[in-house]
Amino acid sequence: MDALIVHGGKPLSGEITISGAKNAVLPILAATMLHGDEYCLHNCPDIADVRLAAAIIRCLGGRVTRRGNTLLVDTRLAVGTVIPADLMGKMRASVLFLGALLARFGEASMTMPGGCPLGRRPIDLHLDALARMGASVVLWEGEICCEAPALHGATIELQFPSVGATENVLLASMGCKGTVVLQNAAKEPEIADLAHFLQAMGGEISGIGTDTLTIRGGAPLSGATYTVMPDRIEAATFLCACAGCGGEICLHGADGRHLTPVLDVLTGAGCELCWSRKCITLRAQGRRKAPPAIETAPYPGFPTDVQAPMMAALLRMEGSCRFSETIFERRFAHVPQLRRFGAEIETEGSAALVRGVASLRPATVTGTDLRGAAALVIAALQAPGVSTIYGIKHLRRGYDNLEGKLRALGVTLSEADGGVGKNTTGNFPCHGV
Ligand code: EPZ
Repeated sequence: MDALIVHGGKPLSGEITISGAKNAVLPILAATMLHGDEYCLHNCPDIADVRLAAAIIRCLGGRVTRRGNTLLVDTRLAVGTVIPADLMGKMRASVLFLGALLARFGEASMTMPGGCPLGRRPIDLHLDALARMGASVVLWEGEICCEAPALHGATIELQFPSVGATENVLLASMGCKGTVVLQNAAKEPEIADLAHFLQAMGGEISGIGTDTLTIRGGAPLSGATYTVMPDRIEAATFLCACAGCGGEICLHGADGRHLTPVLDVLTGAGCELCWSRKCITLRAQGRRKAPPAIETAPYPGFPTDVQAPMMAALLRMEGSCRFSETIFERRFAHVPQLRRFGAEIETEGSAALVRGVASLRPATVTGTDLRGAAALVIAALQAPGVSTIYGIKHLRRGYDNLEGKLRALGVTLSEADGGVGKNTTGNFPCHGV
């Protein structure tokens, strides 16, 4: 079992650099399949999901080489249109290759994507939108077969501002004849980052950052050099850790503009924050004050990916706070594990009532999804003594060098024997195409 041994009970102190955004680099890697050329992507986090996306590109015939935090991608020889189930099943973002393969080759076959177990996570909005653009979609026993010999323009209104569906439409639109107008599009900063990368490739997109995107398809595309945006969810995770433990940290590279609702909650809870486009500092002394309530929402609302880390940050607050999770049906898997630290949390459907306690105790717990596992680390950091957290393979999917960054902030931690750490090769089997 892969596990972290965390020595908790101390405030955090120090400064770290935030890595590139997982949820931006993954659609950007899918976008390199749109056109056979060479791409240079800077500020790419070294995490399992990125290694998996690289494995997909290699399976399709492309090449991916890492040089520090830069990925060199060459898709000139990529001809594949079939993604094996063992690669699809490990990550939600695998489904983003669908739009790119349809745009370039007019066909794609894959299985349903995997990813964190947060509810049903269908892809109906993706498939409906692609069908509106002329794709024929067959979904049968988990297999997705799509043909799109002539993608065409359309006006599409998403029933829900789905991040992934918005990204798949952006990718497929690059290969369609005509103009695509996407209404009720998601507005997360990672989508703007993808759109800016597509523009660097020659794509013609307007309305970036709004809920209506207009894409003039068919523009000639080329390779590009691009720097991926910083990971706002990683930054929020460390801010929550310091809010929970106390102390003072500085996050270099973090862009405060992407985290307004999170910074507002932390300020209201009694943290001192100073932020710019390039840095966020947080100082937390004494006990947090309970915010009245926290409700997740699509951007620019409170991010669902910060719900679990924020819950952990507020376990020792004065008062109580009601969390409402409105994005995913089942995103409270971390709650029973947090209770093992002595947290007082009641859940009912999509709501969780957290009552602050004076102190937490060390515990042995297991993470089952990326952000839930991060919440367990944040709780362990607050509990005086030694806690053990299993399931850190989930952390490896989305946090680059988490242990090194925590050590730089003064944390004592180690891996349990036989831990599966960053050194894993991350070589995924590729059964050919
Ligand atoms: C992206 O997932 C992120 N993942 C998630 O981050 C994030 O939590 C989520 O957006 C919301 O912000 C990546 O970018 C790789 P959605 P995605 O489509 O695209 C329903 C993390 O921890 N839905 O906006 O899957 C869906 O079930 C991960 O980094 C449909 O019903 O999110 C969910 O309830 C976790 N049909 C809601 O919409 C569809 O076709 C939001 O999903 C698509 C989605």
